Amino acid sequence: MPVTAIVGAQWGDEGKGKIVDMLSERVDIIARYQGGANAGHTVVVGEEQYILHLIPSGVLRGGKVCVIGSGVVLDPEAFLSEVDELESRGLKVRGSLFISGRAHLIMPYHKKIDAAAERHSKKGKIGTTGRGIGPAYSDKAARIGLRVADLYRPDYFKSRIERAVEQKNILFEHLYKEDKIDLDEIFKQYAGYADKLKDFTADTGYMLRDALAKGKNVLAEGAQGAMLDIDHGTYPYVTSSQSIAGGVCMGLGIPPQSVTEVIGIMKAYTTRVGEGPFPTELDDLNGKKLRDDGGEYGATTGRPRRCGWLDTVVGRYTVDVNGVTSIALTKLDVLDDFEEIKICVSYKLDGETITEMPEETVSLEKVEPVYETLPGWKTSTNDTDSYTNLPDAAKRYIARVEELVRAPVSIVSTGVSRTATILR
Ligand code: GDP
Ligand code: IMO
Ligand code: MG
Repeated sequence: MPVTAIVGAQWGDEGKGKIVDMLSERVDIIARYQGGANAGHTVVVGEEQYILHLIPSGVLRGGKVCVIGSGVVLDPEAFLSEVDELESRGLKVRGSLFISGRAHLIMPYHKKIDAAAERHSKKGKIGTTGRGIGPAYSDKAARIGLRVADLYRPDYFKSRIERAVEQKNILFEHLYKEDKIDLDEIFKQYAGYADKLKDFTADTGYMLRDALAKGKNVLAEGAQGAMLDIDHGTYPYVTSSQSIAGGVCMGLGIPPQSVTEVIGIMKAYTTRVGEGPFPTELDDLNGKKLRDDGGEYGATTGRPRRCGWLDTVVGRYTVDVNGVTSIALTKLDVLDDFEEIKICVSYKLDGETITEMPEETVSLEKVEPVYETLPGWKTSTNDTDSYTNLPDAAKRYIARVEELVRAPVSIVSTGVSRTATILR
């Protein structure tokens, strides 16, 4: 029962979309297991660039089954506009794209609360994507959420929204001092979505278990990254879902034994969007150069990404916590033009050297990165598809990353296109 999990090994935006698109060719089903439209997965096919937020990147391969699992929080508006966009660009989506009836719906009040909570918190701001992710997962845990399948039982759906809207309006009126929301308006809007989502809705847990029993291959596409995982990331500066490999089974409804491979997607340097600790962040010209050469601007919000050197304390931790079997090292070409390249090998915390990720975020805020300096290669690796053709210094960099994070690099990405990929 082979499931390959694709997980972000840093703070997101590692290039998961590109690698999923590439690996999709060899599998039958591609499934998103968590997150929502906070994700922005960029895939370049020939001259065309696609940014996918909810629909698995495998959709661009054509003829593959794509699944949005129960662990995802689905914004119907974002989903339908993504479908429209793909169809307008000539892609066939219907008949092979399915949403779990168990997936929770993002409601208009979730986005409104997300924005209001950020506006109202001065010091504790998370820097969310504003897509309503936290409030939707909160409602799921509080058992006042609405699920995709509920759309098809209008009376039940209405009674559930009534309860939720009543609660949210207390928040808007008394806490956030915002306009209240209108129940009938939301009900009408979502009744419209019910019709439009009908053809996509299915019991995807059953579908996946059945496919696995028949020996089909599944690629589980993660969003965000392990350092943004609700439990194992830099809490509270995290997203609200399980973005580590453990989330695959929960978010798809498949057994743990089915996951046979875990590929950690790791950028050859580090980026982060939003607030929270980032030990190797560079505020100097090297940081600017990484941002410029790497085109490091958010695919969902357009925000400039914070940039810094590769942090192998993070890498070791995320390899361990995900059970990474191999690494896809992406954006190696972005390092082409550096005289010297630094790798963080450990941290100094209160005068002590530590090689493991501190459990508490307040400690991570205090650490000083300890660097090793490697020579750059000052040669273009952009679009290289053969390991042999890489400059020696680039090979040494890759070998050192493998040693430090204790996992083999099985894929090296050297550019945005499908062909700019080295398979080892
Ligand atoms: P994701 O969220 O993990 O899918 O990553 P994003 O799509 O948000 O960000 C990765 C960005 O880097 C995208 O613009 C990709 O087109 C681009 N990219 C991916 N791999 C490479 C690579 O190897 N080299 C370069 N230069 N760009 C890449
Ligand atoms: P992909 O899948 C990078 C970050 C936000 C914020 C925090 C919480 O493209 O790698 P949320 O809206 O989820 O409540 O925001 O998480 N974040 C991401 N950062 N890549 C992503 O997705 C992200 N999704 C959320 O910037 O710091
Ligand atoms: Mg992204």
